[in-house]
Amino acid sequence: MSDAAQREDLKRQAAEQAASLVQSGMVVGLGVGSTAIYAVRRIGALLASGELRDIVGIPCALRVEEEARRLGIPITTLEDHAQVDLTIDGADEVDPQLNLIKGGGAALLREKIVAQSSLREVIIVDESKLSARLGTTWALPVEVVPFGWGAQARWIATLGAKVSLRLREDGEPLLTDQGNYLLDCNFGPMDDLETLAARLSARVGIVEHGLFLGMATDLIVAGAAGIRHIQK
Ligand code: A5P
Repeated sequence: MSDAAQREDLKRQAAEQAASLVQSGMVVGLGVGSTAIYAVRRIGALLASGELRDIVGIPCALRVEEEARRLGIPITTLEDHAQVDLTIDGADEVDPQLNLIKGGGAALLREKIVAQSSLREVIIVDESKLSARLGTTWALPVEVVPFGWGAQARWIATLGAKVSLRLREDGEPLLTDQGNYLLDCNFGPMDDLETLAARLSARVGIVEHGLFLGMATDLIVAGAAGIRHIQK
């Protein structure tokens, strides 16, 4: 098996383990990305086979909603269900305290809204995502409103990051599901995550950032030596 195929297999294993936590009758947050999509497909298959019943899903991105509908997963909203029983989502980088960088798939705002309403936030990764310090392997995504985005980019640079506007393949700015821009902010390995998160949250024009601190309740890591399930 090639390295890429092995990694896909690990993502699928982590996702299927997480899907086994879903029980009939649950409200389930459906995460975004190449790992989380395996969980969405598994939940669809369990519903189709009758092993799961009465599930409703809250997708964290429009493209996930499309896929979930295609798979026959009933969709709901946070207006109809204020509490999510269990969310399964991926991450870009995970530290030993289960703090995360998310947003590589441009969905960090909806992902964080669903995470904060979830009783359990189950993060699924292959072992390449584990990191001693966040920022070592991934730039921090920050969602900003298009108006005045350059001012936010310059301000974040004064905090010590190398900042780039995320672009589509055609060179135009990538738009999130909310029609906002994303700034990828490379701070290198980060020290005081809480202070940085608070400063970013306080800045007008910044909608949300991809630091998920203290939000994950479970981490399922698939690696060459097997699957580990770490609970907070
Ligand atoms: C989406 O915005 C992200 O938070 C994803 O969950 C994250 O980028 C992980 O994606 P992969 O599973 O594709 O690596």
